[in-house]
Amino acid sequence: MKLDEVREKYLEFFKKREHAVIESVSLLPENDPTTLFISSGMQPLLPYFLGKEHPKGKRVTDSQRCFRAEDIEEVGDNRHTTYFEMLGNWSFGDYFKQEQIQWFFEFLTKEINLDSKKLYVTVFEGDEKSGIPKDIESAEIWEKLFGGSERISYYGADKNWWSRAGSPEQMPAGEPGGSDTEVFYDFGTEHDKSFGEECHPNCDCGRFMEIGNSVFMEYVKQEDGSFAHLPLKNVDFGGGLERITAASNDDSDIFNIDTIASIIKRIEKVSGKSYADNKKAFRVIADHVRASENIIKDGIIPSNTEQGYILRRLIRRAVRFGDVLGIKLSDITDGNEEIIKEEEKFRKTLEKGLKEFEKISSRGNISGSDAFVLFTTYGFPLELTLELALEKDLNIDEAEFRDKMREHQELSRKGAQQKFKGGLADHSEMSTKYHTATHLLLRALKDVLGEDVAQKGSNITAERMRFDFSWGEKMTDEQKQKVEEIVNTKIKEGLEVTNEKTDGKITYTIGNNKGDYSVELCGGPHVENTSGLGNFKIKKEEASSAGIRRIKAVLE
Ligand code: SER
Repeated sequence: MKLDEVREKYLEFFKKREHAVIESVSLLPENDPTTLFISSGMQPLLPYFLGKEHPKGKRVTDSQRCFRAEDIEEVGDNRHTTYFEMLGNWSFGDYFKQEQIQWFFEFLTKEINLDSKKLYVTVFEGDEKSGIPKDIESAEIWEKLFGGSERISYYGADKNWWSRAGSPEQMPAGEPGGSDTEVFYDFGTEHDKSFGEECHPNCDCGRFMEIGNSVFMEYVKQEDGSFAHLPLKNVDFGGGLERITAASNDDSDIFNIDTIASIIKRIEKVSGKSYADNKKAFRVIADHVRASENIIKDGIIPSNTEQGYILRRLIRRAVRFGDVLGIKLSDITDGNEEIIKEEEKFRKTLEKGLKEFEKISSRGNISGSDAFVLFTTYGFPLELTLELALEKDLNIDEAEFRDKMREHQELSRKGAQQKFKGGLADHSEMSTKYHTATHLLLRALKDVLGEDVAQKGSNITAERMRFDFSWGEKMTDEQKQKVEEIVNTKIKEGLEVTNEKTDGKITYTIGNNKGDYSVELCGGPHVENTSGLGNFKIKKEEASSAGIRRIKAVLE
């Protein structure tokens, strides 16, 4: 089957079961300070798991574009990609385990025609520490569907538990989560013993591939570390569209599905080399180029911070693997200017790195610290330095290099955790203020530029807001100043923020008894009065993509 066919069948299947089909949102999260990219279908829907009413009802389905930066290094095997689509169906306090498991089984066996004997499932075995019981109910439902229990296994919280923050222990207070049941497809390929003596569904040798995860989102972590029930029992299902398509073709290499194979063929043509002999390089280039094109499409350009930095890493990694095959990314990207510019920039850095390598290697064997500097400053991966050293018959202190890397990774991990915690901890304070300020900003932009201005996206952290809106040209200094003045006047007026629910939609009104200033449909959260927002300042106004401008602003 083709990717588009599988997507259509899935959405149709759930539409028939009373789900509203919703559009995929951008890869860049709105109002979610905890992450740089949307990496699962449930992320944009979080408020609805916590009890807010979804405008489309209690059952929705979609195919959400996702990007997982943490998988960059994993790309190269048969099944990992950083960019993918996640099929999703959700129940916000409506159906639960019975329907979910039965429907997914039916979809796989009847719509996609998978052989049920090749399906293996894992179920949550319970977690004493957090007081969450074993999921016997899901196992029983599977047992009936399978007509036996041979292909059902239990795993703990490290495998069969899902929350945005990871295991029950890793979750901060206020974070929702739940046990899950995963479905694996057995491609029947030979087990590779370098991954362990015995093969099993969670083995990484490539024989089994996870194709769907039904999360029963029913808990929320408390301040004291215990778990309470959410007001609703929810279902969060996510299934990799590319992986399910691969299973439908009984081909364990997801790079062979139609949409990715077209890039692979192109690389073969340009390089004159075969995919079969150079799998890793082909896979990295195909995935990274596809991911970069999608990130760029959503308005990011390569830079040294946040999403721009991840994009830079992707492109540079693809350039290096391009060198292995002797090709340039510019030959396979259909003229994507940002990728081409970044490739040129990186090739210049590479040149400098080579000069640095010449200097270092003229002193003899290469220390771990030197290899580390080549890596961090010049983007030289160890493999490249090793290759160059080999040409000169020199050794590298790899152990020292790995120590340095470990230190470096630990520091970045600490940084990332800080960011996660900081974001969530501030959720009720700074981020809420910024959120209310985005409403004032949109209204002020309309006052100054005209009613046609529409919001195209926003992203809020505890430190700043980013706001995208439709407008075809650069704003003048005067316009920017005017917008700032209006927002600050409205803040000083101490306008009340109130909300009203009609037809299940929440309308937020910012205004006082003299009249409403801003009225918008929105999910909140908001401050109660604008007086505490501080001083609004536009830090930057720039193009985000064609016809869309981006404002970065702070509350001082
Ligand atoms: N949130 C779960 C996942 O990402 C299921 O959608 O796997």
